[in-house]
Amino acid sequence: MEITQVLNFGSLNIDHVYTVDHFVAPGETLSSAGYLVNAGGKGLNQSVALSRAGVKTLHAGMIGREGSFLKETLESFNVDTRHVITGDVPTGHAIIQVEKNSAQNSILLYPGANMAIPLDAMERILRSMPSGSWLLLQNEINDVPFLIREGKKLGLKIAFNPAPCSAAVGSYPLHLCDLIFVNEIEAAQLTSEQGGHNRLAAAMATRFPGCEIVVTLGKEGAVWRRGSEEIFEPAVPVKAVDTTSAGDTFTGFFLAAKLRGMTPLESMKCAALASSITVSRHGAAISIPAAEEVFDAENY
Ligand code: RIB
Repeated sequence: MEITQVLNFGSLNIDHVYTVDHFVAPGETLSSAGYLVNAGGKGLNQSVALSRAGVKTLHAGMIGREGSFLKETLESFNVDTRHVITGDVPTGHAIIQVEKNSAQNSILLYPGANMAIPLDAMERILRSMPSGSWLLLQNEINDVPFLIREGKKLGLKIAFNPAPCSAAVGSYPLHLCDLIFVNEIEAAQLTSEQGGHNRLAAAMATRFPGCEIVVTLGKEGAVWRRGSEEIFEPAVPVKAVDTTSAGDTFTGFFLAAKLRGMTPLESMKCAALASSITVSRHGAAISIPAAEEVFDAENY
């Protein structure tokens, strides 16, 4: 079922994934028990999640010549790649350590082409979208504030996941966003609130009135907040093997459920189930579930 369309302007990374007993320490040389090359990047993962969840998804971003398999991966998941630009710059890549026992990861990012998207291409692509479409953004590409401002001017609805969160995000025009996804660290950084998840969600809602806020809490679950309305949704307990792209899956499925007309509570439940499936599988984009695995699971 296709609902409405989303333009996701975001990163595309080649993920080099190493399985380790513990994260490598300063001065240490560590052998890895496993090595995989996967399609990743918060942008690409979120496009795959949206598309798998049944949303007509257009991905915009930039790769180098050696990154063509990233575009092919998006296409294999039915994502429209007409706005993926190929240039003479190295494709973005990530060195990801996955700890065998905890399934936690540690990521070193080289942005490459993700930070070289020309402004005129950004403007042209934004203008090609009908007013009322959603624009989804993360913080792994250049000129995010420009995209937020221009997107809003053109009548797009803005969903933003400020990950990875840099000090600069505090000065982005976040008041123009309609939906913001943050983890606890990002929420604390944006609000200077140090308290528990309710206080963080409340502080985000106070700072960005009129905006829907989702604070993800890892294996604890997530909080949704709009004004003074709040919902806490616990995570679905599962044996985790790799947490990479859990947050991206949550973002994609929450937005997809919302676009299907589901309530915030239903959308939170779908997103929680989808990300629990993702963490039970290895890899980034390839671990994201299909719509039926999530939407057919219960009578939402
Ligand atoms: O959110 C997970 C993603 O973060 C990985 O796929 C990696 O590429 C980094 O962007």
